[in-house]
Amino acid sequence: MVKKGIILAGGSGTRLSPLTKGVNKQLLPLYDKPLIFYPLSILMLANIKNILIIVNPGQEKSFRNLLGDGKRYGIKIQYKIQNKPKGLPEAFILGKNFIKKDNVALILGDNFFYGQSLTNKFEKSLIHKSGARVFLKKVSKPQNYGVAEIKKNKIRRIVEKPKKFISNFAITGLYFFDSNVIKYAKTLKPSKRKELEITDLLNMYKKNGQLSYEHIGRGAVWSDAGKIDDMTNVSSFVQSVEKVQGIKIACLEEIALYNKWISKDKIKKNIKFYGNCEYSDYLKNI
Ligand code: DAU
Repeated sequence: MVKKGIILAGGSGTRLSPLTKGVNKQLLPLYDKPLIFYPLSILMLANIKNILIIVNPGQEKSFRNLLGDGKRYGIKIQYKIQNKPKGLPEAFILGKNFIKKDNVALILGDNFFYGQSLTNKFEKSLIHKSGARVFLKKVSKPQNYGVAEIKKNKIRRIVEKPKKFISNFAITGLYFFDSNVIKYAKTLKPSKRKELEITDLLNMYKKNGQLSYEHIGRGAVWSDAGKIDDMTNVSSFVQSVEKVQGIKIACLEEIALYNKWISKDKIKKNIKFYGNCEYSDYLKNI
């Protein structure tokens, strides 16, 4: 079972500059909530309560102001500083004492997932005991992502941001790993762009025949919010769904209440914490 999750919320956010000069990318708004609510909600929907958030030096306080130690949502949040954005696999080196001998999920702080079948898919994957598991999504611009080539229902090749077309299947920013991930991450060498690459890590699992995948499918939405257009597109999507359906995507209290992790009293306290805003009005109704 996977009971622990890491959210990578550091990075330099250069593609979003000047927005990210004063504020971390994951704290920028995605419509009516900070970006980090969305990946955090995905871990909570997958029943993961024990969470490590990796942040940049000097930014822990801002994240703590927002999320605290997680009690507000019935979960446990710890923080770890990444001194420099040395690449995604560093999460497992920094998170060594958090992971210990357990399986772990990693979600990128700028990733957005939405769709009814998703929770089921993620929950099913939680049962996996060993190896690594990734989720693939067909995209129109595979050159912007880590990409998997599939042959006879198996992953044949994985390439980070391929210049030449190999496939349309992007590897999304949610990964499940067994605890060997720490050992593997430590052996990685920086790539040409001077970063440890998650695709190199996945290739190690593939070599050992321990990499499995699942398609996210057409019924669900996935995007990373790495560029300005992605941010605005996903914001508009969230706005449309929320306005038409009268629901909120990534309302942390709603998920926590549904999971029976918090009581209605806690929600009343949270309403006080947020103050008079639309999010609080929504909380009053649940
Ligand atoms: O979104 C999915 C893609 O994410 C995958 O398909 C790629 O294989 C993977 O490499 C990654 O590509 P990006 O170029 O989008 O990664 P980015 O540098 O934007 O980092 C993703 C998030 O992780 C971002 O929110 C910042 C955070 N981060 C990144 C790095 C490199 C850290 O916290 N520390 C880091 O060292």
